[in-house]
Order: sequence, then C-alpha cells, then structure tokens
Amino acid sequence: MLKVKVAPSILAGDFARMGETVKKLEENGADYIHCDVMDGNFVPAITFGDQMVRHIRPYTSLPLDCHLMVLRPETRLEGFAQAGAGLVSVHAEVCRENMVQVLRLIRSFGMKASAVINPDTPVERIFDAVEDADMLLLMSVFPGRGGQRFIPETLKKIERLRSFCIRAGKPELDIEVDGGITEENVKDVISAGANVIVAGSTVFRSSDMKATIARLRGE
Ligand code: DX5
Ligand code: ZN
Repeated sequence: MLKVKVAPSILAGDFARMGETVKKLEENGADYIHCDVMDGNFVPAITFGDQMVRHIRPYTSLPLDCHLMVLRPETRLEGFAQAGAGLVSVHAEVCRENMVQVLRLIRSFGMKASAVINPDTPVERIFDAVEDADMLLLMSVFPGRGGQRFIPETLKKIERLRSFCIRAGKPELDIEVDGGITEENVKDVISAGANVIVAGSTVFRSSDMKATIARLRGE
C-alpha cells in the first residue's frame, strides 16, 4: 500500500490570512499545500497567481502543490518556479499537443511535474505523460470552485490509471484526486488506487483539522 498524503486546498481558506493558514495546515499534519490557480479563462473564477505562492512560501516548509487552471500554463512556469512552487499540475485540456514538452519544462525549472484531466476527459489522454510526470491528477469535480459533490465515475478512472501505471513499470507513481472528497468517500478513492488526497471544504469546515487530516490519510 502506498503512503497516503493529504493536500488541503487553500481555496477554502481566508484569503486575507493565507500565511497563518498554511502554517496551521502544516501544524495539523498536512503533507502538501494545494494552491488552486484560476485565471478567469480556463475557468470563470480568478483566484491568485505566483505572487501569492511567493508570499506564503516562508510560512511553511511543505511542498506547494500548484494546480494551474490557466490557459497557456507553459508561459507561467518560470514565475511559479521563482516563487518556490514544489509541484505544478497542468491540464491536458490546454496542453493538447505539448503535454510531454510542458512536463519536461516544469522539471527543467526544478519543480515536480504533473498532468491533470477534467472529469469529462478520458483517462487515456494522460497515459503518454507517465514517463515524464512525478504525479497524475484526476479531477473528481469540474474545476472552478470548491464545495462540489464528488463524481463517482472518477473511481473507475483511478483504477484504470493505477493499472496502467503498474503495467508501465511505475506502480508507485503518485495519483492525486481533487474535488468533493470527504471522510466518507476517501476510503473508496484510496482503495481505487489514489494516494494523494486534495480536500478543501472537508478540512476547512472541520472543527478539528488535525483529526480530519489524519482520518483523510486513513489513520
Ligand atoms: C476545484 C479545485 C479544488 C477544490 C477542492 O477547481 O481544483 O482543488 O478547491 O475543494 P473541495 O475539496 O471543497 O471540493
Ligand atoms: Zn485543485
């Protein structure tokens, strides 16, 4: 069984107090800080960019897991690298022909690279990314906002992706799942083969963040 990691999404946090928030997440046992970057084009909402990442960087030693919901992510990578991002996910819906090159570019900036797909994109679309990725991310809601319901069809995609990774000789590749994850459905997500769990509302609505993060990790 792979080690399960929890990546709370700061999208559900108070944007006026992000420094304290990421510090608190680390103290409460988070493994990564999931940063949802939205540009108002790939998705309707606008959240924040590399400047926020640079500003929260000193408040935690955890890797900043930056989920880029933006058009032309390849033009933004240097900024995120300089801001101290640890891991960057780029969407297959915008990196149609150039996913492998973009993943290599992310790595060339010294960051870990990840390919992400929307709920309505077939999982086969990221099979080619396995060789050049440190992680693969499956959206279990349509990107754009937190607090949505988990789309159960994602479980089959996780299973197919984990089987593919095993067949491709990468049985331990990180598979992250993002959207609508709760203390109830997380068990199914992990048994299907995922090992990095994004959780926004579940962590921020909890009255005991530490216990919630531990339970999401299966402890
Ligand atoms: C959605 C974001 C998610 C979201 C998760 O566009 O990518 O990371 O913040 O939030 P919850 O856990 O509330 O679905
Ligand atoms: Zn996300």
